[in-house]
Amino acid sequence: MKLSFTLSLTSLLLAAGDVAAFAPGIISSSSGGGRSSISNGKSQQSSALSAERQPIMAGNWKLNPPTEAEALALATDVATRLGDETCAINGDEMDEASCTEVVIFPPFPFISKVRDAVQEAGLIVGAQNFYYQDSGAYTGSVSAPMIKSVGCEYVLCGHSERRTVFTDTDQGINLKVKKVLESGMKPILCIGETQEEFDMDITKEVCAMQLSKDLFGITKEQMKDVVIAYEPVWAIGTGLVCGSKDANNVHVFVRECLTKMYDEEVAQATRIQYGGSVKPDNVDELMAMPDIDGCLVGGASLDGESFARIVNYKRASVAA
Ligand code: 13P
Repeated sequence: MKLSFTLSLTSLLLAAGDVAAFAPGIISSSSGGGRSSISNGKSQQSSALSAERQPIMAGNWKLNPPTEAEALALATDVATRLGDETCAINGDEMDEASCTEVVIFPPFPFISKVRDAVQEAGLIVGAQNFYYQDSGAYTGSVSAPMIKSVGCEYVLCGHSERRTVFTDTDQGINLKVKKVLESGMKPILCIGETQEEFDMDITKEVCAMQLSKDLFGITKEQMKDVVIAYEPVWAIGTGLVCGSKDANNVHVFVRECLTKMYDEEVAQATRIQYGGSVKPDNVDELMAMPDIDGCLVGGASLDGESFARIVNYKRASVAA
């Protein structure tokens, strides 16, 4: 993967400190590292401001499965396989705070039943999309209050399939991110370059631009509830997984952008997932990277055994 640039728009923006200009209204209160700080989360030892980040694994079911009965069966299978055993497989720490946070994104009609099936096992549900207006003449839409009322804690914003198939714009994605946060839920903001942009060697430019536009007006305080997912579009559903070191390099770059837009504290506290053909056989290597804090999983989240294995990735300290 080509990640070195001699002269690029992004490096010019970063050099000039202009990325911060896209994020007005930044306030100075401190930011946390997700739901809780944990002993076996990711930490940046090289940083002056080190932060521990709770791992977060998410299953994006997209337009699957076809029936409520199948959705319920999958949810029940996942909950049964994970349940109390999630932490036991990962290491010695058994306290709840050291468990990986697990979120499932079912299609809208199945959210309530999936929530009922998984909540006892400690799994959370989220929504794949919504419309930013609360109510009104918007046939076919689903609002933030609606998804919140059925238990959604997270919402995907800016997924590449929404950007391409449904022509979601950065401006619209920004409205959604703001609405999710105002509604007391948490956005997982998806960014990443297409195959064409990858071939043009503009991965960093694309990610920097998406971050600056999609997080426009989001405050430092709000950033504690934002998760970023780096999903190279060419790796989604293709079986082509981005190399773990290359993915980590992009995550490091995302933190550089967040440092410019906010500060080092936000950059180190923000959790960044990798997404794109994550499978049981590549998750350990990905999760061993210091700046990869979790995975956003598509196809492999539709199989209970595969998803449970991904959630129970071998932590670096116990992988050897
Ligand atoms: P796959 O894991 O099927 O490549 O999908 C990734 C994705 O789009 C998750 O949101």
